[in-house]
Amino acid sequence: MTPPRKLFIRTYGCQMNVYDSERMAEAMGGQGYVPTDRADDADMILLNTCHIREKAAEKVYSELGRFRGLKAANPDLKIGVAGCVAQAEGEEIMRRQPLVDLVVGPQSYHRLPELEQQARRGGKALATDFPEEDKFQTLAARPRARRGPTAFLTVQEGCDKFCAFCVVPYTRGAEMSRPAERVLAEARGLVERGVREITLLGQNVNAYHGAGPGGGDWSLARLIWALNDIDGLERIRFTTSHPNDMADDLIAAHGECAKLMPYLHLPVQSGSDRILKRMNRSHSADGYLRLVERIRTARPDILLSGDFIVGFPEETETDFQATLDLIEAVGYGQAYSFRYSTRPGTPAAERAQVPAAEADDRLQRLQALITRQQRSVQDAMVGREVGVLFEKPGRLPGQMVGKSEYLHAVHVGDSGAAIGDVARVRIVASGANSLSGVLAG
Ligand code: SAH
Ligand code: SF4
Ligand code: F3S
Repeated sequence: MTPPRKLFIRTYGCQMNVYDSERMAEAMGGQGYVPTDRADDADMILLNTCHIREKAAEKVYSELGRFRGLKAANPDLKIGVAGCVAQAEGEEIMRRQPLVDLVVGPQSYHRLPELEQQARRGGKALATDFPEEDKFQTLAARPRARRGPTAFLTVQEGCDKFCAFCVVPYTRGAEMSRPAERVLAEARGLVERGVREITLLGQNVNAYHGAGPGGGDWSLARLIWALNDIDGLERIRFTTSHPNDMADDLIAAHGECAKLMPYLHLPVQSGSDRILKRMNRSHSADGYLRLVERIRTARPDILLSGDFIVGFPEETETDFQATLDLIEAVGYGQAYSFRYSTRPGTPAAERAQVPAAEADDRLQRLQALITRQQRSVQDAMVGREVGVLFEKPGRLPGQMVGKSEYLHAVHVGDSGAAIGDVARVRIVASGANSLSGVLAG
């Protein structure tokens, strides 16, 4: 018997890429491939790439260059580029880096087995179209193997918002939602395999409007309520949300739905109305603050997280100050911030850029503020009792690490807990990046 071929996948970018990589690994499993975590041991290397900022996209080429030696040592090695760089640059990737045998965009993953065959026959293989058929259905059925306690599940993909800085509408295509029944079936399958927490994914997940089983569309809130009924599923999360799609039923669910966790990632990008307008965000800073107030009325303890871009074209010090003011007003428990990166083909790429040094200085000031806020939100957990879903053993003997409802990492010593257990934990200390606690009661 010939040994199975080995597949090495490296994933960049957002959680949706993590989910996609799992699906690609499963699809290739159907072709007799087993996963490996060593590139130098692989018969096929796949880079699942991200195009969101210039650095992310360029990393792909430096990484590819490093595989030259591997390919020389093993002429049967096939190298593929998947994900958003594949979609954005297509054939250009093979021109720039002839080591690459196949390029597959995020909407064509179901064709991966066929592309691999084509590459094995000695050809170059490319698929970057937006096909009509449902890739989620045509990907190989999920194997029954056990898995860890947390999982991502894509329910919505693509974006019609066209923020002036962003490549996602071009790389992921138009907004689409998966039918509710298929999402529920996939969720039940995950729970049977040991999953206790599901994070629903979408570029604009709260714009979800999947076809319901009885006709008519389901909102994200309705889908969450249906997931809430699945026995064995303990926790539901979703990401990423757009402020304009935060519907009343979803806000209400945060107050009423027992399994929906009190954590919300709600990017705003800037606190200046002038910049928000130029970003084509179609909401104001004040509108965002009022929305936050309504969410907190429904669920007072919710932990809010956000994304910020500094140095967007034409951003002045006054605009930047407005962003700091908004951050002060909200009080984030978590936030991600980026220096604006010019993306070819997006409207903002044509505009007057803020000097890099100025943008860097703003980024540092913003990050200092956010770090302070995160710290104080985390420190305020000390003395409180939280639920922890245990995900893995800690570094100390007997120690386990899990996540609280608020997504804080929590270390518990000698808990006797197993992976996948949920327990009540009293927080006793707040460290650099995590909390420690003891079993309550
Ligand atoms: N769909 C999500 C996330 C999009 S990408 C949303 O609407 O929020 C994740 C984050 O990357 C964005 O929220 C934004 O803060 C950042 N980002 C996107 N394009 C960028 C660019 N050109 N330069 C810098 N940061 C960018
Ligand atoms: Fe990009 Fe804006 Fe769409 Fe988010 S909402 S994916 S930032 S275009
Ligand atoms: Fe990156 Fe594509 Fe996700 S550009 S952030 S991998 S949708």
